[in-house]
Amino acid sequence: MSTSKINIAIIGLGFGAEFIPIYQRHPNANMYAICQRNKESLNKTGDVFGIEKRYTDYDELLKDPNVDAVHINTPIPDHAAQSLKALRAGKHVACTVPMATTVEECEQIVQVVKETGLTYMMMETVVYAREFLFMKELYEKGELGKIQFLKASHQQDMDGWPNYWPGLPPMYYATHCVGPVLGLTRSEAEYVSCFGSGTIRKELQSFYNSPFAVESALIKFRNSDLSAYVYRSLFDTARQYRESFEVYGSKKSVEWPLIEGHPLVVHTAKRPEPEIPQEVETPDYAHLLPESIRRFTTGGVYDTDEHQHLSFTQGAGHGGSHPHLVHEFVSALVEKRSPFPNATQSANITCVGILAHESAMQGGKIIKLPDFTLSKI
Ligand SMILES: NC(=O)c1ccc[n+]([C@@H]2O[C@H](COP(=O)([O-])OP(=O)(O)OC[C@H]3O[C@@H](n4cnc5c(N)ncnc54)[C@H](O)[C@@H]3O)[C@@H](O)[C@H]2O)c1
Repeated sequence: MSTSKINIAIIGLGFGAEFIPIYQRHPNANMYAICQRNKESLNKTGDVFGIEKRYTDYDELLKDPNVDAVHINTPIPDHAAQSLKALRAGKHVACTVPMATTVEECEQIVQVVKETGLTYMMMETVVYAREFLFMKELYEKGELGKIQFLKASHQQDMDGWPNYWPGLPPMYYATHCVGPVLGLTRSEAEYVSCFGSGTIRKELQSFYNSPFAVESALIKFRNSDLSAYVYRSLFDTARQYRESFEVYGSKKSVEWPLIEGHPLVVHTAKRPEPEIPQEVETPDYAHLLPESIRRFTTGGVYDTDEHQHLSFTQGAGHGGSHPHLVHEFVSALVEKRSPFPNATQSANITCVGILAHESAMQGGKIIKLPDFTLSKI
């Protein structure tokens, strides 16, 4: 592998295609190959972006010795098997969320990363969104004071979504709320307890034998006095799409707006009551990126000079996180360091969700995170 230019292959070209123009402009990446099963769609994307290496068969792509790293954006049930295949073929892996759908798969990925010394990163968007970067900056500068509590939600109405979505237990896709609460202080979850609430329609319950409309979990942090609260809903609960994240400190707290698109609210302690809350416009963190990919923090999908605008996904741009994700993955490879979140951290985040659902099914039983999800035991 050349240390200055990493040959990237993107697998899955729905959401995955949004990353193509970013890799194409990253100074240390070569957007080498793309892969999806439908040849016509594959060629359409390849033609738009001028990518010559095209694969309809993932296994064939993994045999290509020029591929240094894969970025997987296929449906959720495929993430673990495809990540494991790539690692066993000697490729570094970036994979969209969640890492896997079972605790056992997470353990296998952590194990293979250990055995091979290869890099794995879960591409969690929220921990690179501008709002998160804003709160992280306040935290690192000491402006929040002592952190006292964290809270996050991810609510979305997924009625009518196809394939594996109908009836999905809300906590099976919890990384967008678990990621930020753990990620701000780079903490690990020690144990989780989750309650189910409400009931979804009978026909939806049958897919996963999961009845709950809302799942809400408390997460106890390891080696810390902190705990966090996260909640999720997917069906039969009226709510605008929202991925919220809030942090409460002794000096300042930051709360997410109730309506998407409104400004964050910063609360400052020890002020006259009406002056405590202040709405703030979240700054743009493009300056953390190489100049050539800064434009992608504005959230457009293909709105580059050369390429037409093909599509816009829900939550498009995800707080400007996409170029930060690419930069973190590529930089970690070039600098031979661990990315955030690495395999162990991704397993901890993902297993919180999987185990939270198990807890809800057992009336809120406290469940410990397994040792393999902890960095140092
Ligand atoms: N904020 C986020 O982090 C975020 C946002 C959107 C989507 N996602 C994730 O991205 C993934 C894809 O979502 P999507 O909406 O683009 O789904 P999609 O179904 O529209 O696209 C999936 C893509 O994967 C390809 N594919 C499927 N199986 C394949 C295989 N075996 N080999 C090669 N290609 C294969 C399909 O051809 C398609 O291009 C999902 O896991 C989703 O959860 C994450």
